[in-house]
Amino acid sequence: MNEEPLDRGKRNFLKAMIVVSAGAAAAGALKGVVQNIISPAAGLTSFPTLTLVDDVTGLPIHTSDIVVNSSKAYIFYYPLDNDPNFLIRLGDTNDNDVRISPYNVQIPATGGVFRSPGGAGPYGSVVSFSAICQHLGCVPPIIHYYKGGIPIPGQPTLKSSTGYIHCNCHGSTYDPANGAKVVTPPTQRPLPNVILDYDPATDTYRVKSMIGPTIYGKPSDLEGGTPFPSGTTTTRVTQISTAGA
Ligand code: FES
Repeated sequence: MNEEPLDRGKRNFLKAMIVVSAGAAAAGALKGVVQNIISPAAGLTSFPTLTLVDDVTGLPIHTSDIVVNSSKAYIFYYPLDNDPNFLIRLGDTNDNDVRISPYNVQIPATGGVFRSPGGAGPYGSVVSFSAICQHLGCVPPIIHYYKGGIPIPGQPTLKSSTGYIHCNCHGSTYDPANGAKVVTPPTQRPLPNVILDYDPATDTYRVKSMIGPTIYGKPSDLEGGTPFPSGTTTTRVTQISTAGA
């Protein structure tokens, strides 16, 4: 895994989202703007199953390619080609993998609950969530994973040995060790969880579906964006530098 920039299309998409996010955060009017960028609706009839591959080599990533307890952001797109997600290998402050158990996640906005699947991989420590903030749609690097022991801007009292996902637009915080549940508002929804399918024989990962709230700004997880080209069997994992890493 390296830190090569995203391909031009995805880089432009992230740049557009970041610029829009910053401006709209100040104006307090991001929601409609983000929805306009993501629309019009287009999509799939079912979740695809895609293998996670290195963005440069195109080869399947292995557990050792995902640095444990790292504030670098691993991003891949799923289920549509403009839906960014975090891939995180959770560890403690000594960089030991932490096994993540399934967890019943509350959705404050609705009072509902969904079952987060817990971690995948040989140590049960690899998790994945939508990287679009559920408050008003900010994306990386504004929403960012802070590993355990790293101070979170504006949230000096927040501490977790496995770290938090925090959005600098308005301060929403999510707990990746517990299904990306809401830790601090203003978000009232957890991050959607990506279901990982780990193959121990090959030490490779596939993504096969999502669970939890609908991805922010979309009519459903399968609509509101650009599907991968027909016949696509992989999605590329890119490591990007993020503010506060
Ligand atoms: S968009 Fe408002 S906290 Fe993330």
